[in-house]
Amino acid sequence: MKVPLAIPNLSGREAEYLQECIRSTFVSTAGPFVTRFEQQIAELSGTESAAVTCSGTVALQMALEGLGIGDGDLVMAPSLTFIASPNSIRHSRADVWLVDCTTHDWTLDLEIAEAAIERETEPHPYGRLHRETGKVLKAIMPVMIMGAGLDFDAYVEFAQRHGLRVVVDAAAAIGASSVDNTPLGATGVDAICYSFNGNKTVTSGGGGAVASAHAEVVARINHLVSTARVGTAYDHDEVGYNFRMTNVEAAIGVAQLERLPLFLERKRQIHERYAAVAGPHPDLEPFPASAARGSVHWFSGFHYTGADVSRCKRFCTFMVDRGIDVRPFWKPVHLQGPYVNAQRTAVEVTEQLWERIIPLPCSTGITDDELDYVADSAAEYWAGGSNDA
Ligand SMILES: Cc1ncc(COP(=O)(O)O)c(C=O)c1O
Repeated sequence: MKVPLAIPNLSGREAEYLQECIRSTFVSTAGPFVTRFEQQIAELSGTESAAVTCSGTVALQMALEGLGIGDGDLVMAPSLTFIASPNSIRHSRADVWLVDCTTHDWTLDLEIAEAAIERETEPHPYGRLHRETGKVLKAIMPVMIMGAGLDFDAYVEFAQRHGLRVVVDAAAAIGASSVDNTPLGATGVDAICYSFNGNKTVTSGGGGAVASAHAEVVARINHLVSTARVGTAYDHDEVGYNFRMTNVEAAIGVAQLERLPLFLERKRQIHERYAAVAGPHPDLEPFPASAARGSVHWFSGFHYTGADVSRCKRFCTFMVDRGIDVRPFWKPVHLQGPYVNAQRTAVEVTEQLWERIIPLPCSTGITDDELDYVADSAAEYWAGGSNDA
């Protein structure tokens, strides 16, 4: 049996809506599905409006630029993230300040960020002036890693106290809410950025979106992504981008969102199945999903807490030999070529953690038989049946 890591589930009305695009000739960057997809995303996020983009990376970049962040600015982001988060900061012409993550929700540690701010910056009219570089820290970018919920109040309080913006990398967190089902857009953060890449819970083939409670920021992003065009003739008032999502992509996204509750339920079941395998093992924990903050469980798997980290690699090989797609997790940003010299705090937790995170297959279309096969194979390995214990 072959079990892929995360593939799209396209068994809804995707084909029908794509046919509609062809029939109507609306295949490019304007069309009814684009409008509908934006409305659905805004509704889910509890915001008045949302802007769709051609990728999640671009959504993050546009959120930063839409908030006026750019050249000469700094943005704090965790080192434990996909490289797209810091790339988006660099694309906006700002620089990244990498911060360690917490042990409990695996993202930007506010205590460490606070200490760094106290030590290295001073107040500035638009944020915090970093004394050594002369750059201005203007925002923080916490990441909802694997779809895990965040303590939004804490991030918003921290940001307000230091005059910073909060841009949430919610690339993998479509469908998430805060405590008491508060939509993310009502938490006080400045922008929520999603990805609809093929491996996400909801895909549009490729694409992203920014939802924000600041309607003027969404309007600005819409202006930037559509070549900064004004009026109906070829007038452009700044150097804009061609970063819109197409109607074809939005058609897939709309069909996908119709089944979001089903997808989220399947993700929850997958999480529980793997958590049950981890349960009896003192060296294994499931991915973060605190009772208070929840998770939409984009990915589920194991966090290995034992002494012999090399077992994680051997586990991957064991699973791959059985046709199960299990790969190492994201290498942290501070170890990546373009960012080895990036400004950063100490990153001890990140360095401890990343090789111990083992995502397991989590497609929403995974069959019960496939899920059993993955869970039983994993249980066999960790029980020592692989002669590896
Ligand atoms: C944490 C995180 N941020 C940003 C992105 C970027 O999204 P995209 O691939 O749509 O550009 C991803 C995508 O995988 C991601 O996982």
